[in-house]
This record gives sequence, structure tokens and C-alpha cells, in this order.
Amino acid sequence: MSRILTITTLISLLTITVLTTPATSATDSFVFGGCSQLKYTPGSPYDSNVNLLLTSLVRSATFTTYSNFTIKSPTPQDTLYGLFQCRGDLSNGDCASCVARAESQLGTLCPDSSGGALQLEGCFVKYDNTTFLGVEDKTEVLHKCGPLIGYDSDQLNSRDVVLGYLGTSDGSYRPFRVGGSGDVSSVAQCVQDLSASECQDCLSEAIGRLKTVCGPAVWGDLYLAKCYVRFSTAGASSHGGNGNGNDNSGNDEVEKTLAILIGLIAAVALLVVFLSFLRKSCERDRVAVKMRDEATEACLEPNNTILNI
Ligand SMILES: *[C@@H]1O[C@H](CO)[C@@H](O)[C@H](O)[C@H]1NC(C)=O
Ligand SMILES: *[C@@H]1O[C@H](CO)[C@@H](O)[C@H](O)[C@H]1NC(C)=O
Repeated sequence: MSRILTITTLISLLTITVLTTPATSATDSFVFGGCSQLKYTPGSPYDSNVNLLLTSLVRSATFTTYSNFTIKSPTPQDTLYGLFQCRGDLSNGDCASCVARAESQLGTLCPDSSGGALQLEGCFVKYDNTTFLGVEDKTEVLHKCGPLIGYDSDQLNSRDVVLGYLGTSDGSYRPFRVGGSGDVSSVAQCVQDLSASECQDCLSEAIGRLKTVCGPAVWGDLYLAKCYVRFSTAGASSHGGNGNGNDNSGNDEVEKTLAILIGLIAAVALLVVFLSFLRKSCERDRVAVKMRDEATEACLEPNNTILNI
């Protein structure tokens, strides 16, 4: 009987794993977000400019991976600047849905804030009334490192080869870069308001810092204000080639909790089916064999199990 119980547990664990995986590989997963401390008055011209700007960004994301907007106002402090940047490999449809999601999350995260920025897996959105368009900014926003690989010179080599390749300049403008060597794959993205040389400079900086902070980790992500670099090792963890934000995502957590809940419900349902099956076979046994105290105990045992959950 304990073997059947083990199988039931395994099935429910599998259910949890299967249900959890899609949530972490989505381009819509939250990576980071931040808001300006200054607030505008709801219903003010500033308010309508923010709405106009964000709507323009969302609309524009249906046909391009990068765009910037300036909403001019007679009063300089109400003039707004904004941009979005989708990861270079996203389709128009995926880019549009990512920017729409980022826009709605910005509204929740930064209510009435004069400025805000949000990075999802697949896209970045920022608005403010101080101009940041075309301004290089190498401030570190976030880094996350996976578990250490220990000493594996092949993987360390592959990582250095891949990051070296991502960091080389061939003189052309490459705001989106992917690379792979051995088990290691990597992706880099500049916000396209940077010039070719600024993008190159930003990525070199990010790659250098990523190597320093994530050392010999199986995966690592490093986000500067205007570019990011990420690498991952195949089969090392659930952290896919495009990477995924696994720790600090409010939405991810909700989705994971939901998946685990569904998994648990499935497990309990399986257990109930299993128990009613057991009870029936127990009752059959009672007819066949003269009822003894041990037999009654054996039939009660599953009920104890369910109480222990
Ligand atoms: C930006 O907007 C806020 C809120 O209206 C205002 O307090 C601030 O002075 C503005 N900043 C600039 C640089 O105009
Ligand atoms: C902003 O957008 C305009 C029009 O699409 C473009 O000409 C300009 O180069 C962009 N500016 C930056 C800094 O990306």
C-alpha cells in the first residue's frame, strides 16, 4: 500500500513541476521595477500626459521593438519622455503584449509617480519628466547569480568564450546579441536610444561586472540602466536560455502558488479516489475473511494518512 501512496505523491509532485515550468519561462515575468518619489496630482495635465505617453508606447509596440516618445507641454515640468525596448527576438505580437503588460504593471507599481521604469523578461518600459533619452547610464540596477558550478574548467571556458563573443565589436550596430558555446548560452540587449559605441561601452561594462559578481555560477544576469547581459548553462537548472526571474517576482510567486495549489488539489483528489478504492476492497475482504481487529485497523489506516497531510 505504501508503494501506491508513494506513486500518488510522485504524480502530484510531477503535476506541480509541470504546472510551475511555464510560469517561469514566460516573457511577461517581472524582473525589476522602480518609481520616482515625486507624485503628480490625479486629473492634472501631467496625469493625462502620462496616459497619452503610455498608450502611445503600447500602440507603437505592435510594429516595432523600440520606440521613444516626447509629450511636449507648455509647462516644462509637465513635458514627458518615455521609451520601450523589447528583446530583439520577440515577434511583434509578443512585444506588444509584453509592453501592454508592463504598462499595466507600472500603473499598479507606481500610482501617480512622476516617473517609473519596469523590466519584464521580454521588455523594458520607462517614463519620466527629466530627459533620459539618448543618455548613456551604466548604473547597476540588478544582478542575480545561480548556484556555483564548482570547478569545471570546460564550463568556465565556455562562459568566457560566449561572453567574450558577445562583447566584441565588429563596428556594426548590434543592440541585440545572442551567443552559445558548449552548454553555455547567452543574451545581451541594449536600449536602442544608445548609439553603437555607447551600446558597445555599456555591454563591455556589464560583461565585466557579470564575470566579477557571478564568478563561476551556472547562470547569471546583470542589468545596467541601459543594457543587460545574461548567461545560463543548459541542464543546470530551470533557468532557461533566455533566463527567467525566479526570486523577486510578485507575479511569478502568485502563479507558482496557484500551480502548487492546483497540484495539491489534484493530489488530494487522487488520494480520495485511492482511499475509496481501498475501502471498497476492504469491505470485500470483510465478507470473505472473518472480521478481525487487525483488518479493521488496516482499513482505518488510510483515514489517518489523510489527517496527517
Ligand atoms: C516632474 O514632475 C513633478 C511632479 O509634477 C514635479 O514636482 C517636478 O518638479 C518635475 N521635474 C522636472 C524636472 O520638471
Ligand atoms: C526618438 O524617436 C525619433 C522618432 O522615431 C528618432 O528619430 C530619434 O532618433 C529617437 N531618439 C532616440 C534618442 O532614440
